[in-house]
Amino acid sequence: MQNFIFQNSVKIVFGKGQISKLSSLIDTNKKVMLLYGGGSIKRNGVYDQVMESLKNHTVVEFSGIEPNPQYGTLMRAVQMVRNEKVDFLLAVGGGSVLDGTKFISAATNFKGYAWDIIAKNAPLTGVTLPIGTIITLPATGSEMNANFVVTNEDTKEKLGMNKPEVLPQFSILDPEAIYSLPEKQVSNGIVDSFIHTTEQYLTYPDHGYLQDRQAEAILKTLIEIGPKYLKDKTNYELASNFMWCATNALNGNISVGMPQDWVTHMIGHELTALYGVDHGQSLAIVLPGVLEVKKEEKAEKLLQYAERVWDITEGTNEEKIDLAIQKTIDFFESLGVKTRLSDYNIDDSKFEMIRQRLTKRNMLLTGERKSFTPEDAVKVLELRK
Ligand code: NZQ
Ligand code: ZN
Repeated sequence: MQNFIFQNSVKIVFGKGQISKLSSLIDTNKKVMLLYGGGSIKRNGVYDQVMESLKNHTVVEFSGIEPNPQYGTLMRAVQMVRNEKVDFLLAVGGGSVLDGTKFISAATNFKGYAWDIIAKNAPLTGVTLPIGTIITLPATGSEMNANFVVTNEDTKEKLGMNKPEVLPQFSILDPEAIYSLPEKQVSNGIVDSFIHTTEQYLTYPDHGYLQDRQAEAILKTLIEIGPKYLKDKTNYELASNFMWCATNALNGNISVGMPQDWVTHMIGHELTALYGVDHGQSLAIVLPGVLEVKKEEKAEKLLQYAERVWDITEGTNEEKIDLAIQKTIDFFESLGVKTRLSDYNIDDSKFEMIRQRLTKRNMLLTGERKSFTPEDAVKVLELRK
C-alpha cells in the first residue's frame, strides 16, 4: 500500500425528511443562492421542502444548469453571485448541478480567465464560496468529493478538475428525493457508480486488502440491488443502498494508498463532448474495450474480479477473465444501457480527432501504469464499434 493522506470533511445528513435540517445547516445571516437544473426539483417536491426549510433565510435562485454543465451558463451564475453578493451556494440536483456549483464557487473571486481553473489547473487566487448540496441522483459521488467536470461549449471540450477548496460543507442525501428519477437516469447512475469503483479497483494488486474488499462490496451490492431498484423505484431500502453505494464509490475511501486508472472516464468524456451521449452511457461503451486492450496488465485484478465479484470458479484464468468482462457487458445491457458505439449511431469518423485531442492535451501516458497511449484509445474505440 502506498503512503497517503486522507481528509474528507463533508458532513453527510442521510435519510427521509432530512431536507428540513437545512435551516440549521446554514447560518441565517448568510445570503443563499439556490442552484438547480431544468426543474425536476420543482416537480418532485424537493424545491418546496428547501424553500420551507429556508423560510427565514434570504434566498436567490439560479436555475438552468444543464446536464454536462456548460462554462457559459456557469459564468452567468458567477456574474449573478457577484451582483447579488451571495455568500453561500446551495446546489440541489444531480452531479451536473453540484459540479457546476463547485466551479461557480471557484470562479467567483478568481482573477483571470476562469476556464484556466479547469484547463490549466490554475491555483485558486481568491476565496471560494461555501457549498452545501442536496443530491437527487446517485451516480457521481459529487456530494462527497471535490471533483467537478465542465464542458466548454465553444471548443467542445469536457474536462474535470479536483480542488479541495470546493469540497461541500454538507450534503443531504434523502433517498425519497430519487423516486422521481426516469429509468434512464437510474441505469446511468448504477453504471457510473460501478465504473467509478472499477477505475480504482481494476488496476494491479497493491496490498490494499481492505480497499479491495470495500470496492468488491460496492460492486456486488450494485449488481444485487440495481436491477431490483429499477423495477421498484419507490422502495426506500433499495433507494438508500443505491445512494450510499454511489457516494462511497467516489468519496476517496476505496482509493487511498492504491493505484487508479480513469482511462475509461477520459475517453468517455470525449464521447460525451463530441456526440452528446450521457456520461453513464459513454462509460458503458468504453470500459469493456479498456479491459480488453489492457487485459494482460490488469490480469491479476481481473481474475480477482472474476472470482470474487462474479463468483466464477470454473475454467482457466483466461476464460474466467473473458467471462467476467462478458458478464460486465451483460449487466450494463440488462440495466438498459447499450454498450456499442453503433447503438448510439457513432461511427469511426472522429477516432483520429480523439487521438489528436488526447495528444494535444498531453494525455500521452495515462492509466494506473502510465502506459495507456492515445493510440490505445483508438484501439478501445475500434473494439467498441
Ligand atoms: O436538470 P434537472 O431538471 O434537475 O434534471 C436532471 C437531468 O436532466 C435529472 N434529474 C436529476 N435528479 C432527478 C432528475 N430527474 C428526476 N428526478 C430526480 N430526482 O437527471 C438528468 C441528469 O442529471 P445530471 O446531473 O446531468 O446527471 P449525473 O448526476 O449523472 O451527472 C453527470 C455529470 O457529472 C459528471 C459527468 O461528467 C456529468 O457532467 N461527473 C462528475 C463527477 C464528480 N463530480 O466526481 C464524476 C463523474 O465521473 C462524472 O464525470
Ligand atoms: Zn463517472
